Amino acid sequence: MVERIYLDSAASTPVADEVIQEMLPYLKQQFGNPSSIHSFGRETTRAIQQARRRVADLIGAKPSEITFTSGGTEADNLAVKGAAEYAKSALGKRHVITSYIEHDAVLEPCRDLERLGYNVNYLPVTAQGSVRPEDLKGALTKNTALVSVMHANNEVGTIQPVKELCRIAHKAGALFHTDAVQAAGKIPVDAKDLAVDLLSMSSHKINGPKGAGALYIRHGLDIMPLIHGGGQESELRSGTENVPGIVGFGKACELAAKNLAAYQKHVSELRDYLIGKVSQEIAHSRLNGSTISRLPANAHFTFFGVNGEDLIIKLDENDIAASTGSACSVKKQKPSHVLKAMGFSYEEITGSLRLTLSMQNTKEEIDRTVAVLSSIVRELRALSPFKSKYT
Ligand SMILES: Cc1ncc(COP(=O)(O)O)c(C=O)c1O
Repeated sequence: MVERIYLDSAASTPVADEVIQEMLPYLKQQFGNPSSIHSFGRETTRAIQQARRRVADLIGAKPSEITFTSGGTEADNLAVKGAAEYAKSALGKRHVITSYIEHDAVLEPCRDLERLGYNVNYLPVTAQGSVRPEDLKGALTKNTALVSVMHANNEVGTIQPVKELCRIAHKAGALFHTDAVQAAGKIPVDAKDLAVDLLSMSSHKINGPKGAGALYIRHGLDIMPLIHGGGQESELRSGTENVPGIVGFGKACELAAKNLAAYQKHVSELRDYLIGKVSQEIAHSRLNGSTISRLPANAHFTFFGVNGEDLIIKLDENDIAASTGSACSVKKQKPSHVLKAMGFSYEEITGSLRLTLSMQNTKEEIDRTVAVLSSIVRELRALSPFKSKYT
């Protein structure tokens, strides 16, 4: 039987063995509610404290600055809506700035803010998918409560100039949030060095369990909670804590910090090998996104004259898992808003394919992938009405 090849690590990753081992007791004998006073409750409270320290350490924060959530989506919602609501009630500010290439977890809460009467500006990006600092400067007003720009894009992997954007936002008196779901644990991310006010993270992108994430909230910053109830997580996120998930996320952060250098080296070497091979072996293909400021595990291509979804189906038939971009927007059946914002034509968008790598991938897997990809692209182009253009 042929081994399946997984090249979709930006969508999700398997839970690491060490993470599972740490989680197991909290699914069985250590099941207490952290709000309980007895020893069962105290055990789980201690486990959450340890996880909070590990998550904080990964991004150079203090444990008290970490609020656990159900994942990156909730962290983004809490950051955007919580900060905007607070700024409106405390300062009367109703203006928010974000970018066209954010994940829906940021864009949808921004749209909700618009429905609630806020004014939201969406910043354009360059052809490589980068937000221009001068565009942010031009959009800021004294009414701007919050700027939210992602650390690294989930589709094309472009890393944004977050530190500079944050400095510009602060100069104008606005708060700065960054969605670091694709960055934290994959490239060095230091909340203090970046000087951001809010930063979102997710567990399942870094070999932790699904359904766990966190929002970094700079010490001293007030935001409004979205979920009300028993007052857990310092009243910012009510609900009995997902103890096994939080414990697993903490361990995943510890492992990510320990393995960061080895991870970056392994995936970036494989990525460069993959990019080189694709450009050599598949004509009329193009790498998208930045060649300089790019996530180490991301390769995103356009294959002219083919449909990316057909490519994914054919790759899947050959036991290779890939993606056109965001796993979430596939459900919405809409063309990528990220590639549209980068100025791509319809043909460039439909022919796109994202391959994202992990420590588990090997050179042999890349060789097999490129061989299969090359023959699928040839086959699909032969069926295309534009075949004379690309054969
Ligand atoms: C950039 C970005 N933000 C947010 C999310 C949502 O995170 P979660 O799946 O933990 O809700 C994702 C997931 O793909 C993402 O890539």
